[in-house]
Amino acid sequence: MARKVMITETVLRDANQSLMATRLPYKDFADILSTMDQAGYYSVECWGGATFDSCLRYLGEDPWERLRNIKKAMPNTKTQMLLRGQNLLGYKHYHDDVVEKFVELSIKNGIDIIRIFDALNDFRNLETALAAVKKYSEVYGRHVIASGCISYTQSPVHTVEKYVEMCKTLVKMGFETLCLKDMAGTMSPYEAEGLIKGIKSAVGDIPVILHTHCTTGMAYMTITKAIEAGVDVIDCEPATETMFYALGQYGIDTGLNEAVINKVNDYFKPIKQKYIDAGTINPKSMATDSQALVYKVPGGMLSNMIANLKDMNAMDKFDEALKEIPAVRKDLGYPPLVTPLSQMVGNQAVTNVLVGERYKNISNEVKNYFKGEYGIAPDAVSAELQDKILGAGNLPIDCRIEDSKRTGKDFEDAKAALGDLARSEEDIMSYICFPKQATEFLEKRKAAEENVCTYSIEEI
Ligand code: CO
Repeated sequence: MARKVMITETVLRDANQSLMATRLPYKDFADILSTMDQAGYYSVECWGGATFDSCLRYLGEDPWERLRNIKKAMPNTKTQMLLRGQNLLGYKHYHDDVVEKFVELSIKNGIDIIRIFDALNDFRNLETALAAVKKYSEVYGRHVIASGCISYTQSPVHTVEKYVEMCKTLVKMGFETLCLKDMAGTMSPYEAEGLIKGIKSAVGDIPVILHTHCTTGMAYMTITKAIEAGVDVIDCEPATETMFYALGQYGIDTGLNEAVINKVNDYFKPIKQKYIDAGTINPKSMATDSQALVYKVPGGMLSNMIANLKDMNAMDKFDEALKEIPAVRKDLGYPPLVTPLSQMVGNQAVTNVLVGERYKNISNEVKNYFKGEYGIAPDAVSAELQDKILGAGNLPIDCRIEDSKRTGKDFEDAKAALGDLARSEEDIMSYICFPKQATEFLEKRKAAEENVCTYSIEEI
């Protein structure tokens, strides 16, 4: 029997996020969903990450409604989301009851696979979400897969042995599948081979998934080596159709329907062109950039940094800011550059460059990071910076931040704040995650229902 390697299609979430800052509206892909449902993907990554924020902030869409619509159009395909553990889809840690409720609502609204990670690989931050997946799988009578995900990065402290240990821990915790998430596309073919071999021999039958990016141009080689080393599922930022073609010659069965995936490809071509023409897709984020091998900057972070510098009329500082990133990262104990750490490190690097003096201004996020509010740093942080932020000799907290600050009043507070704007638990959850954006969205929804025109067409 031919060996099987399955494919996760990422066009609706990660490609959308990495190439066009998550600005793809539902109406642009609604018509292809029922076709995608026939493709035979392992899963379609379609929700979570920045999609939630972007729906409310930029697209005037209810993210929950988007999820329900996607699931309705794709009943035969596993819908997948990316969840930042205790961060959910926001940029801070939420209380346990909020995390549990968010997972419940995600399952209730149609998610089949929840890939859970923590930016720092501090797995204490995955426990609540994992337990909630198991609990609400049962409550709703649907098998929802909890996938344990590792944020991959390279540093003197990130060795193959360390990653193998992490995988063993995730399996012990009860995750059904494992994912190595190479958000910056810096995993080389050689590294992939060593990692996947090491992990597969340590975890036996647990499916191992590789998520990588084309940023540095290595993805096709890296995936090929990962497949030779035994990986079970690959996420395609590399074109699905190309991987299908190449793997077919290896005698590997992807389970994909060729005619269908070609139709999907044809559908997205003009859409991609439309956003290139509009300037939403910056060609910089599509090109091969070997600089990322030095700076370890993921695509989403790169496109956001470009957008921020453009807003400030400071694109001339781009190269300098890029060079500052590894220095900030070292000071922070080599965190993987993934949300929210990528924004934190990126913004601090930009600030250091624009101000002209390192750490003259320190963001609240970086201060909270040093206080231990995000979890344990992978390696020792800069002692000098720690003293500057915490006061000489003071240490970060050694428990989870929710354990020290739990209030449990988020729902009551959100409900009271929204009044008759909230129609559902989903509305309240949107507000808890993104208060300002959710309020604006819910106000517009209400006004639209009352047929009162309070906004211009351009705003929609
Ligand atoms: Co990614």
